[in-house]
Amino acid sequence: MEINKNTWEHLHGLAVEAMRHAYVPYSGYPVGAAILTADGNYFSGCNVENSGYGVALCAECGAVSDMIKAGSTDIVAFAAVNGNEEPVVPCGRCRQLISEHGSERTLLAMPVGILPFPEVMPFAFGKEDLTEVPTSTYHED
Ligand code: THU
Repeated sequence: MEINKNTWEHLHGLAVEAMRHAYVPYSGYPVGAAILTADGNYFSGCNVENSGYGVALCAECGAVSDMIKAGSTDIVAFAAVNGNEEPVVPCGRCRQLISEHGSERTLLAMPVGILPFPEVMPFAFGKEDLTEVPTSTYHED
């Protein structure tokens, strides 16, 4: 799949549109995130905060949920924006979300430009790590 200037403009536009729906009464910091998957579909989400500050949902959570609900996976391009419509770096937890559904060819629109996901999150923990230690070797006593 070719990812060109139009692709990034479309992702940016979806992220901006999603950002405008953010529920951010506590931080006042709206975020919108947009995803393109290998099957050519686009998804988006906004951050949703809560009076219990720690349970706020990042915009990426909504975008990943939108993607999974539609039966898509394999993120090939990702963009997130803040209230100034500028690129936002995904937080650590959201990098883990992207990692689960991305690959070494996943591209991220970062404030410094387009970067391959492995440069943004090298040595990510993944499902293959779970096979390293059989759970049967774990005993509480
Ligand atoms: N936020 C996101 O939505 N995504 C990120 O990757 C970084 C942080 C949100 C969480 C919170 O609602 C607000 O930005 C301020 O931290």
